[in-house]
Amino acid sequence: MGKFQVISHPLIQHKLSILRREDTSTKNFRELVNEIAMLMGYEVSRDLPLEDVEIQTPVSKTIQKQLAGKKLAIVPILRAGIGMVDGFLSLVPAAKVGHIGMYRDEETLEPVEYLVKLPEDIDQRQIFVVDPMLATGGSAILAVDSLKKRGAANIKFVCLVAAPEGVKKLQDAHPDVDIYTAALDEKLNEHGYIVPGLGDAGDRLFGTK
Ligand code: PRP
Ligand code: URA
Repeated sequence: MGKFQVISHPLIQHKLSILRREDTSTKNFRELVNEIAMLMGYEVSRDLPLEDVEIQTPVSKTIQKQLAGKKLAIVPILRAGIGMVDGFLSLVPAAKVGHIGMYRDEETLEPVEYLVKLPEDIDQRQIFVVDPMLATGGSAILAVDSLKKRGAANIKFVCLVAAPEGVKKLQDAHPDVDIYTAALDEKLNEHGYIVPGLGDAGDRLFGTK
């Protein structure tokens, strides 16, 4: 079974509480998602492998460390995942970015895929799928299905708020995928929204409602 970790750094908790408030503006919401994503990016990249490299300082030759082998890809699930990309890129500016477009049918709560655009060598990359919300788990599962269909093998899923139902469904469907969240909330309501959650992440990020 992959790792499941709640990243509960005090700065993340503080920022997440502001993010959840219904009176937080679109501008602040966007900035906070970006900041939290960066803080999470720092934590979820902790176990990236390193290798030795010989370098020349102004004083001597020395063996030091650099990130090894695998290259990275950040894959946001549209729309709301877009809000987390810059935070990750500020840590790993050379990462490639793929996009998976998906929306939840509000009647059935089933995800509908409408776009997949990935780096060509996605099968050789360490992938961070980012989406602020893991609710029923349908969108995350379909996104990982889509990536695996294209040869991707090393996938981590990073969200801000998760519901226990979604975590379980994603773990059952893809036990090899590590899941990181800033908060594990109580439950889903009858409309598939996370309680207490933060509402509709896409609408709050883009100001569409
Ligand atoms: C939200 C969210 C996730 C999905 C989570 O997207 O960003 O992608 O719902 O729900 P699930 O776990 O039940 O699948 P939404 O469908 O609202 O699309 P949007 O980002 O375009 O607003
Ligand atoms: N998608 C959201 O944006 N919010 C939820 O609470 C559930 C799904």
